[in-house]
Amino acid sequence: MILVTGGAGFIGANFVLDWLAQCDEPVLNLDKLTYAGNVHNLDSLSQDTRHTFVQGDIADRTLLDRLLAQHRPRAVVNFAAESHVDRSIHGPEDFIQTNVVGTFRLLEAVRQHWSGLPAMEKEAFRFLHVSTDEVYGTLEPEAPAFTETHNYEPNSPYSASKAASDHLVRAWHHTYGLPVLTTNCSNNYGPYHFPEKLIPLVIVNALAGKPLPIYGDGRQIRDWLYVRDHCSAIRRVLEAGRLGETYNVGGWNESANIDIVRLICSLLDELRPRADGQSYAAQITHVTDRPGHDRRYAIDARKLERELGWKPAETFETGIRKTVQWYLEHPEWVAQVQSGAYRDWVQKQYQSA
Ligand code: NAD
Ligand code: TYD
Repeated sequence: MILVTGGAGFIGANFVLDWLAQCDEPVLNLDKLTYAGNVHNLDSLSQDTRHTFVQGDIADRTLLDRLLAQHRPRAVVNFAAESHVDRSIHGPEDFIQTNVVGTFRLLEAVRQHWSGLPAMEKEAFRFLHVSTDEVYGTLEPEAPAFTETHNYEPNSPYSASKAASDHLVRAWHHTYGLPVLTTNCSNNYGPYHFPEKLIPLVIVNALAGKPLPIYGDGRQIRDWLYVRDHCSAIRRVLEAGRLGETYNVGGWNESANIDIVRLICSLLDELRPRADGQSYAAQITHVTDRPGHDRRYAIDARKLERELGWKPAETFETGIRKTVQWYLEHPEWVAQVQSGAYRDWVQKQYQSA
């Protein structure tokens, strides 16, 4: 089996669902269920014996030791993190605790587990760390996209904490020989995306008749990747990545925020027109910019394509249409996440885990 951490969050849940749709290898899913974790993302697995969910913290060494000894996973995929830049600006402490201390504790527990494995299992073992393009900092408008050799120049508490975790993972390979792989991915979008991030926020606010907040001039550029393409890249790196290497994952889709928001508005105008006949674009509002806002991210994903033959399956046009449709078809998911009702359920269901 594999151990997935943070598998109740946006990307982790998509990864677990995709994994079990494609193979029969069981998943042990360890997630703290912070505000961003939602066990309802995994409802379709409630009767599936291949999926075991444990509520817990990657910084809890005792729990980690117990789970690793009991389940003996052949690989760990580490998604668990605090992931929202704006939250990291308001309160960086949790980011240091989970992204830095948590990754450190997980690495130490995994190192102990891995050291004690029989030779063949030891050889086959993998620790895959899921990271972000934000560790590379910001790009000038005409600069080439980030390659894996780009300097680390993180600018936010979030990206600095992820950069620190990447360095720990690298060091555990060079110092202890731990068989690690790191992926640095661009901005994801798709189903189960918590509606505090740009794309789901815009869809949800548009439908609720609320303002669509654009930070500053809205000309900041992100490189968007459909979440299931990120999941397929991780599966491929886990399967065939070279030990100790990092792989950039991206969708070759650079867009300014304002253009993304306008596109979502036009899709909603087509799929769920406003009652008054106006465009959802009328709800766009410019608000104060984020402090230290990175101007541009862009990923050069050629190494992953060249070495492992991976390419995204979705274009932005197909992926964003699927995403908007998913939100239109899942109003109950949005309502649950917004009301916090799912957290009450979690408390009831997992208080003894
Ligand atoms: P998310 O915030 O939606 O989910 C994070 C999950 O981790 C949640 O389920 C949360 O409960 C869990 N978690 C948080 N702290 C934990 C802890 N201490 N122990 C165990 N579980 C904990 O984040 P996401 O968008 O799904 O991102 C997943 C990973 O991918 C993160 O490492 C993030 O840095 C990385 N990443 C995200 C993006 C993106 O666009 N969302 C892009 C590149 C990389
Ligand atoms: P976000 O989804 O928070 O991802 P990240 O900051 O990790 O790239 O934001 C994506 C972009 O959208 C980023 O440039 C900030 C901007 N943004 C807004 O303009 N308005 C918003 O309300 C939010 C949440 C983000």
